[in-house]
Amino acid sequence: VHPHRVFSGIQPTGVPHLGNFLGALENWVALQNQYPTVLYSIVDLHSITQPQDPDQLRSNILDLTASLLACGIDPEKAILFQQSQMKSGQKNEGSVGLFTYPVLQAADILLYQSTHVPVGEDQVQHLELAQDLARIFNNHYGDLFPEPRTLLSSTRKVKSLRDPSAKMSKSDPQTMATITITDSPEDIALKIRRAVTDFTSEVTFDPETRPGVSNLVMIHAAMAAISVEEALSQARGLDTGAYKKLVSDAVVQRLTPIRHEIGKLRSDRAYLEGLLAQGRKKARELAAPVLAEVRHRVGF
Ligand code: ADP
Ligand code: NA
Repeated sequence: VHPHRVFSGIQPTGVPHLGNFLGALENWVALQNQYPTVLYSIVDLHSITQPQDPDQLRSNILDLTASLLACGIDPEKAILFQQSQMKSGQKNEGSVGLFTYPVLQAADILLYQSTHVPVGEDQVQHLELAQDLARIFNNHYGDLFPEPRTLLSSTRKVKSLRDPSAKMSKSDPQTMATITITDSPEDIALKIRRAVTDFTSEVTFDPETRPGVSNLVMIHAAMAAISVEEALSQARGLDTGAYKKLVSDAVVQRLTPIRHEIGKLRSDRAYLEGLLAQGRKKARELAAPVLAEVRHRVGF
């Protein structure tokens, strides 16, 4: 039995957007200070089930690594590694397509005897397979896997700037809908200026009836690290047009140092590769005895 272990994964689709940042990454940074062992996996095997240019995938992985570090992931506190490097022999074979998302995720969670898995609200049911497999294995072969528990990473949902009934997403085809954490101050200001609100000019917070304005208030509060009440009090007397300036200033202020840091890190591929190699080594050290124990009990 080991103390709590946190495991989470993120797909290497390039630089994270504001939804990833506020809905997942901020929490990842907090968790590395709260739990003794924290593993963050760049889940590249999920992304190769769709055909992808290998050079593009490599550069997405390094961009994401740089982004995670710039957002505050500390390689001394969190094990940051690449999923495919733990599953050798699978990468260049069609066989990986057989592993569907939930199967791969369950295998990853169990491999490190994870106890806690931070997920977004939309992903809670994804964990059921890992929980079932842990229970089934333990019943047959004796306790080995803790039943992983979800750790609701955050109830923050960042909405699309163009359609506040949908969540902000990298796959949103609309331009101006998504802010990535490396957007320039000009792009951020433009996207927020164009954000869909409604016909009421006063700034209030009511996600049900006023999703557009409320999304801006939430973003403002989260990026400035203030409460929604404080954000509303700063908005008093402003119409939504003037308020957008305040919101984009808060976003720009928070993201500027991160963007600069990503720029620096991106140019040092050797450093990023070295970090991932170090993460792989640490992850292997955790996984090896678990795999050996599974083999021993099952009789492989
Ligand atoms: P996307 O939804 O853009 O495809 P991912 O599925 O890779 O992004 O999500 C990675 C993490 O970011 C997950 O924990 C997910 O819950 C979180 N996340 C993604 N989009 C949002 C959003 N709009 N608001 C809050 N959290 C989000
Ligand atoms: Na998602």
